[in-house]
Amino acid sequence: MLSMEATTQKSEKEPLLKVEHLKTYFFTEVGVVKAVEDVSFHVNRGEIIGLCGESGCGKSVSALSVMKLVRIPGKIMSGKVLFKGQNLLELDENELNKIRGKEITMIFQDPSAALDPIRTVGEQIAEVAMLHLGLDEEEAKELAIETMKSVGIPEAEKRFNDYPFTFSGGMKQRIVIARAIVCKPSLLIADEPTTALDVTIQAQILELLQEMRRKYNMGMILITHNLGVVAENCDRVYIMYGGYIVEGAKTETIFQEPRHPYTRSLLKAIPMLGVKKDRLDIIPGSVPDLIDPPTGCRFHPRCAFATERCMKEVPKLEKIDDDHYVACFHPQYDPL
Ligand SMILES: Nc1ncnc2c1ncn2[C@@H]1O[C@H](COP(=O)(O)OP(=O)(O)OP(=O)(O)O)[C@@H](O)[C@H]1O
Ligand SMILES: [Mg+2]
Repeated sequence: MLSMEATTQKSEKEPLLKVEHLKTYFFTEVGVVKAVEDVSFHVNRGEIIGLCGESGCGKSVSALSVMKLVRIPGKIMSGKVLFKGQNLLELDENELNKIRGKEITMIFQDPSAALDPIRTVGEQIAEVAMLHLGLDEEEAKELAIETMKSVGIPEAEKRFNDYPFTFSGGMKQRIVIARAIVCKPSLLIADEPTTALDVTIQAQILELLQEMRRKYNMGMILITHNLGVVAENCDRVYIMYGGYIVEGAKTETIFQEPRHPYTRSLLKAIPMLGVKKDRLDIIPGSVPDLIDPPTGCRFHPRCAFATERCMKEVPKLEKIDDDHYVACFHPQYDPL
């Protein structure tokens, strides 16, 4: 039998979150949208992973599936979401509500839906603490103010009673973050947390998220279509295309040794990485129709290296090096 100590060590090493072969479809009037077809990834404690890819590739649906927040006509078809070893997809709403908002929290992509406009910001942060930590009103208010201070809201005591519209975009996002971290979650999912903000404010918010990660040893999923944000903030990154993870590796590996043709096209399309202007080509073709997706590898119609096999068979995500996974029959090894 394992001693207590050995058990603890094992669970410390286990990923905080392990998503296996997640599949989520939407059953719409015009057809079945195969939004997430096969998504597997993991997040370690205290680690920030990036989930990256073009619009419509299934980033938000993957995140919502992790939280089991996919609503009709969507349905999680199969897969596992192991959080601290427990499959969240097998839990009922009651059990999930004890985890969501407390242990796993999410910053949603739509900023206008993030805060209730007719309730004070303090109230909205304090209610989370009351619900999940069993604090009374006064204790919750104290914790909410302390959290508002920690995310950089000036005059937090006074601002507790203010409504969301009185805050600037950046300050509003700090309030959203305060609410997401008030219970010190072990996993935070941030879906495009800075896209709606000015560039200078974006950097400040990302810095705040980094600070919170260090302070609470929080694991984080940072969803973004911006590889610059990934380069500066993530330990590892997963590239998504048409409902699949096509490549996953440490951030520096993705930038220095990208192997999937899609990842390589994405990197070539970023001007800020010092790529010469004549190579700044956008990826030809458009994102796949997920109601009637291409057969085989969903990237094959846009891929310069596609062969007959790519049209027939779906490449599996396979390990090609330490911590480096690629789903491609023709991984590219030349320098970019
Ligand atoms: N409620 C829904 N009903 C039908 N289809 C949906 C629904 N929600 C998402 N989809 C479809 O699922 C696919 C994946 O969407 P998702 O929102 O995950 O993309 P994304 O990668 O987050 O894109 P973006 O970068 O634009 O946020 C898209 O084709 C989208 O149209
Ligand atoms: Mg999205």
